[in-house]
Amino acid sequence: MDTQNRQPGIVGTTIASQKLCDTFGIAQPIFAFTHSLDTVAAVSRCGGLGVYGATRRTPEEIRTELAALRVKAGAVPIGVNLVLPPGMPEDNDPGPIESQLPQRHKEFVAHLYEKYKVPAPERRGMRTRFLRSNEIARQQMAAVLESDVEVVACGIGAPPDFVEACKRAGKRIVALCGSPKHARRAIDSGADLLVAQGHDSAAHTGPIGTFSLVPQVVELAGDVPVLAAGGVMTGRHVAASLALGAQGVWTGSLWLASTEYAIHPIILDKLLRAGSDDTVITRSESGKTFRQLRSAWSDEWSAPDAPRPLGMPFQDMLVGDLLGAIDDHEIEPLMHYAVGQGVAWLRSRRPVAEIFAQLVEESRAALASLPR
Ligand SMILES: Cc1cc2nc3c(=O)[nH]c(=O)nc-3n(C[C@H](O)[C@H](O)[C@H](O)COP(=O)(O)O)c2cc1C
Repeated sequence: MDTQNRQPGIVGTTIASQKLCDTFGIAQPIFAFTHSLDTVAAVSRCGGLGVYGATRRTPEEIRTELAALRVKAGAVPIGVNLVLPPGMPEDNDPGPIESQLPQRHKEFVAHLYEKYKVPAPERRGMRTRFLRSNEIARQQMAAVLESDVEVVACGIGAPPDFVEACKRAGKRIVALCGSPKHARRAIDSGADLLVAQGHDSAAHTGPIGTFSLVPQVVELAGDVPVLAAGGVMTGRHVAASLALGAQGVWTGSLWLASTEYAIHPIILDKLLRAGSDDTVITRSESGKTFRQLRSAWSDEWSAPDAPRPLGMPFQDMLVGDLLGAIDDHEIEPLMHYAVGQGVAWLRSRRPVAEIFAQLVEESRAALASLPR
């Protein structure tokens, strides 16, 4: 095991956090969601727990990438995240979904291609490579179960059968919860750890703010540990999370400007210049409420004459190829990215080890500064 970057616990003051670290085999109660294998591996090697976002990867890609991740991370614990929403179509067949897309919506998308001179897509977009369906979900879950990752995180729903199968395979289950109702369901499904993810958060997010959500989830979680998420960017946020009753933190936006994260330079520049009020919530990305950088994309979809975004997975099929073409052809005004209100703290590109060490150091200082 690589212990070079691992630092002693920040959390000597909270026995519950130490217990969480012991249970998950980590040095710090800092979890990091990211789409970058290198960032996942680096966080885990620092003593946190990196979780790879694999929901848009094919089952075969998941197999290959999780094997590669193990090589990068070594023996330290790593995690993988799938989004498994209920109510999706049975088969991975986009035909029936595409045939139901309303004409008005198709015309609006055609208008965006024309207005912003977006060349026709040369390949399927990330959201259209396959249809979010029960068929794909089953195959993704099988790939995850076969892997040797220690932790499986479920965003938007934790299907009880999958939770049970993961636990039988010796994996720990983390469930992302945007409301007390989600938390109740996750506890009933047998989740080992809850993430109370508040409104400030990047990507799919609910209406309840982090400060209001975390203590409610902590109260109903009983013995199940809780991580605070949504706006955790500094040691002060970590200290506040512990004060709210969480045993640790779950972070996403914090890693977007890490050196290990291969992000497009135009997006990086937008992130480094953005403040908290430069993010918006829109359903135009996936059909569900999704926080991202404000751009011509979100502005167009919120204009009074724009059609209302469709539900998931119809919106994926409607806009997936256009979103891919926007990035492939670098159509700057429309380029955007999922990020939380904590974007205000992204100010430079730095290696994971530096970001991690600063977070740990600041957390210690913030905790030490509290009156006893
Ligand atoms: C670029 C990006 C993509 C995300 N995609 C997912 C996802 O696929 N599944 C998921 O459960 N959470 C996803 N999230 C949310 C994170 O898991 C996490 O809850 C969130 O980032 C926490 O809030 P923060 O960004 O303020 O730290 C994403 C976050 C980011 C930054």
